[in-house]
Amino acid sequence: MGYWRMIRFLHKAEPFVEQRELELQVPFIQTAHSLIHDRSGAGSDFLGWLHLASEFPEEQLSRIEAAGRRIAKDSDVLVVIGIGGSYLGARAALNLLQHSFPDMLPADRRPLRVVFAGNQMSSTYMSELLEVLDGYEVSVNVISKSGTTTEPALAFRILQDYMTKRYGQDASKRIYATTDKAKGALRKLSDEMGYETFVIPDDVGGRFSVLTPVGLLPFAAAGINIRDLLKGAADAEKDLATPDLSNPAYEYAALRSILYHKGKAAEMFVSYEPGLHYVGEWLKQLFGESEGKDHKGLLPVSADFSTDLHSLGQFVQDGARILFETVLKVKDVRRDLTVNNMAGDPDGLNYLTGKSWRSINDTALDATVLAHTTGGVPNIVLEIPDMTEYSLGYMFYFFEKAVAMSGYLLGVNPFDQPGVETYKTNMFAMLGKPGYEKQREVLSNRG
Ligand code: PA5
Repeated sequence: MGYWRMIRFLHKAEPFVEQRELELQVPFIQTAHSLIHDRSGAGSDFLGWLHLASEFPEEQLSRIEAAGRRIAKDSDVLVVIGIGGSYLGARAALNLLQHSFPDMLPADRRPLRVVFAGNQMSSTYMSELLEVLDGYEVSVNVISKSGTTTEPALAFRILQDYMTKRYGQDASKRIYATTDKAKGALRKLSDEMGYETFVIPDDVGGRFSVLTPVGLLPFAAAGINIRDLLKGAADAEKDLATPDLSNPAYEYAALRSILYHKGKAAEMFVSYEPGLHYVGEWLKQLFGESEGKDHKGLLPVSADFSTDLHSLGQFVQDGARILFETVLKVKDVRRDLTVNNMAGDPDGLNYLTGKSWRSINDTALDATVLAHTTGGVPNIVLEIPDMTEYSLGYMFYFFEKAVAMSGYLLGVNPFDQPGVETYKTNMFAMLGKPGYEKQREVLSNRG
């Protein structure tokens, strides 16, 4: 694909941001670009994602593909255990790239079913999962970089027990662990039990890890072309390397920064394809965890239009002027339909006869951008060429590069997440985890 820019701006939030304001950002962009590429900024130990795709070792890729084939051959269901960055990227890609109803396809077209666990601690969810697994051949991929996160560890404890009771010694051939190369309880346990393991590189943080084995193993098992995903990201690496506004990732970061400083408190990621729902969830984590620090940052939220135009639409059009929208528009959708004619026009829709559903959905997007911008809500519209592995890989990298720039423009370290620890400390203290006695006392004195 070369240097053709895949993600295009269809609307840059005019008239809310003027070109001269964007140009004033250029010196800051240049400085932040050097921080990223010279690896001299805060959090620079976590820049492994920068060249991950273009430098992915072939031997590792082949091993992931081989494990994926094995899982698909001996299983009906893969349970993927993980949370945050060890969960959302995989979910986003499967949701976008697979058929909308994969489980209802004829057997010869049905992909391996992937279900998720360890992304919450609901006893109802876990009990009901265990209840249905008996009817299927199962493999498990437990994913945790730290190897100590409570949610996936708890889920793995019960699923490991389930697998051992069900498959005996063969359980270890059906359990795959994706974790740190040396540290953490999961690494230790996996080595002891003889599970096949895949390594999350030290210098890639959780929310930047979708193109490591974290995402790639579940994708390979589900029949997703992981080489195309990596190719898209590798091409984005080349395309998004200029230190100025000709780089769309940086232009997007600059727009967000200007809107933030003009008082916008929230960014709503919007799409008109249900397949992008979990990309919205992935974006919320990427931006929320990277930027929400030192009492700064845009609150990332997401919405599925036109569904949510019938719920949140009223607020966006007429409510508090606190947000702007970033709309992800898919240029070439996977499938299209034509509106059928109806004799007598009882529903009054014959004026649409012969039109494509896709053009109607696009018109809804254009009409909404117009309505919202007229109502005082800035809109940035990013066009994604299609819903393929290549484009998704490109899009993952686009947003990773944008958030790195955006975080530095905001004056925060985009690669850490110190705030996530507070709830964990409280939870451990309240659950009585050894080592947390002091905090427990502090909390109980608070009443
Ligand atoms: O981005 C992050 O670092 C986090 O969201 C982690 O991915 C999440 O907390 C899960 O961590 P781990 O993979 O160590 O279990």
